[in-house]
Amino acid sequence: MRVLSGIQPTGRFHWGNYFGAIRQYIDLQHGNEAYYFIANLHALTTVREPALLRQYTHEAAIDLLALGLDPTKATLYVQSDVPEVSELCWLLMTVTPMGLLERCVAYKDKKAKGLAADAGLFAYPVLMAADILGYDSDVVPVGADQVQHIEVCRDLAGSFNHLFGETFVLPKAKVLDDSAKVPGTDGEKMSKSYNNTIELFEPAKAMRKKIMSIKTDSRPMEQPKDPAGDHLFDLYSLFATPQQRDEMAALYRRGGFGYGEVKKALADLADAFLAEPRSRREHWASHPDEVRAILADGASRARKKAGEVLRRAQKNAGVR
Ligand code: TYM
Repeated sequence: MRVLSGIQPTGRFHWGNYFGAIRQYIDLQHGNEAYYFIANLHALTTVREPALLRQYTHEAAIDLLALGLDPTKATLYVQSDVPEVSELCWLLMTVTPMGLLERCVAYKDKKAKGLAADAGLFAYPVLMAADILGYDSDVVPVGADQVQHIEVCRDLAGSFNHLFGETFVLPKAKVLDDSAKVPGTDGEKMSKSYNNTIELFEPAKAMRKKIMSIKTDSRPMEQPKDPAGDHLFDLYSLFATPQQRDEMAALYRRGGFGYGEVKKALADLADAFLAEPRSRREHWASHPDEVRAILADGASRARKKAGEVLRRAQKNAGVR
């Protein structure tokens, strides 16, 4: 099975990125042909400072390696290092109905807020389709917010195949049940644009402070509480073993505890979980040349595959 996914370097990764997507990247690198990339061309629709974008891109690679992405198993590369995908994007653009993109959430949201959208944001899902189709990907591990884009990708692949004959493999999204939509500190979806994120690699003290700021209701301590639908409990569950989760659920139902205790337990679990990634991160941060070499090797492997698919598509469409 060929697995592929991308992540934007728009700042530091947060818990939503890890539990919704990166955790799947790490699992799926075993026993599959896996491609993971840093989507700097997509990030260009929001990050407009060149030095910052370069820095975020490098740090994204460091974070992924620190979290357990193994470059001897998976191909790790930067999106813009594979120009074949941008060429493929044009071919797909010619079979993309405007109406399909007008219904896509990122663009629709921006327009609804009265903000000016550029053509890059409008065509964002087409580039994403090229990212995926360019590698004959079977499975795309993502959080729930990306499922609409995978559907667009399937639509475009279907239209192209219909017009020009079998060219692209139709991919499937892979979304985890327990973390399709990780909540942020306010209970909404964790997202940078909602300012409710907890970053994976912020200093331990700052992380603890953010955890202590997670919004909770004002039910008195004595009152029993239902863990279902409680976003603090959901966050705790992400880090907990099944036994720890069951014990915490029992504590909720019994009552007689303060949310502060749950937050402290969550911070302890997060710290323990992050001990190894934090120390791996130190290694990669102090070896930037090794990181660059990994990305260069990944790009050359990725270009080989993307070139093959691009030539197939060009031939079928009559531009080769
Ligand atoms: P991005 O960079 O916004 O997010 C990266 C991954 O993290 C997931 N995610 C979440 N999952 C669960 N709960 C949350 N609160 C949460 N927040 C983020 C996202 O679903 C995503 O899987 N367009 C993509 C990047 C991309 C891509 C691709 C992905 C570009 N080309 C090709 C797959 C295949 C994006 O903006 O993800």
